[in-house]
Amino acid sequence: MESPFKVDILKGKVALITGGGSGIGFEISTQLGKHGASVAIMGRRSLVLQSAVSNLQSLGIQAAGFEGDVRKLEDARRVVQSTFDQFGRIDILVNAAAGNFLASAEDLSPNGFRTVLDIDSVGTFTMCHEALPYLKKGGLGRGSSGGGVIVNISATLHYTAAWYQVHVSAAKAAVDAIGRNLALEWGTDYDIRVNGIAPGPIGDTPGMSKLAPEEIKDPTKTPVPSYILGEKWDIAMAVLYLASNAGKFVNGATIPVDGGLWLSRPRHVPKEVVKQLSRSVEKKSRNAPVGVPGSKL
Ligand code: COA
Repeated sequence: MESPFKVDILKGKVALITGGGSGIGFEISTQLGKHGASVAIMGRRSLVLQSAVSNLQSLGIQAAGFEGDVRKLEDARRVVQSTFDQFGRIDILVNAAAGNFLASAEDLSPNGFRTVLDIDSVGTFTMCHEALPYLKKGGLGRGSSGGGVIVNISATLHYTAAWYQVHVSAAKAAVDAIGRNLALEWGTDYDIRVNGIAPGPIGDTPGMSKLAPEEIKDPTKTPVPSYILGEKWDIAMAVLYLASNAGKFVNGATIPVDGGLWLSRPRHVPKEVVKQLSRSVEKKSRNAPVGVPGSKL
């Protein structure tokens, strides 16, 4: 789908996207690049990185790939430094790297729990921390121009609870908390905006095929009748909004981009039945004598 934003809204900006070589992260890299940014992507798999970079370059985007694991401080430090060396500044950090798998709390080992927190929560903080010298107002490559922007990719599942996702729920709750606290501290001290996007189910992603395999989508095997899928594009547009000046007054927010799905519950009683029931109950209540249960006082 065509972008509603002007193609030069990020002209001259440099973006570093962790997990930017595949899935939602790659669409974010593509859209930031298509709107004028130079793009550095960080990931663990060199073949995935290489192919992503050549795809970005074939679209005319200035792109570079840096291998690294957000769980390792030395990798984070090296990739941030390499991005700066290559492009001369860093304006936008998108933390899209994440680990995920379905496992019941009973079957999940404490190390499995820790692994996802290490990637999602500690990894996000580490990348923010290492990028701070470049993102802050007056920081390396910035002079006295304003600060940069951080966008964390979160989720909606911890707003309530989610089956077999205790590790991811805990990790994303921490990501949201990190975002709010950095927004407060670094917004105040360094003019950096820190926000989050919480995607709902997005079609054609590794996350979806892991978390909603075909068997789960079968309505005979699940109480949820259907999934409403978003597109990777929806998430990338939300990141563009936050990363560009369109979002200049937004700080410390996490925006759910899920079509309102996290609010939904199974509809137990049809709307027409509720209408009729509600009217007859109200009528009875209006006609009941004072003091009788259900009457007006
Ligand atoms: N079910 C249960 N436990 C699992 C698991 C699964 N599917 N996958 C990993 N674990 C556990 C392991 O058993 C291990 O715990 P243990 O030492 O107690 O046995 C722990 O997690 C670490 O596993 P390991 O395979 O050594 O970690 P890793 O660093 O190689 O990979 C992930 C872990 C999460 C990064 C891996 O699953 C992965 O590659 N995910 C791809 C990223 C992804 O899913 N992206 C989409 C995001 S929505």
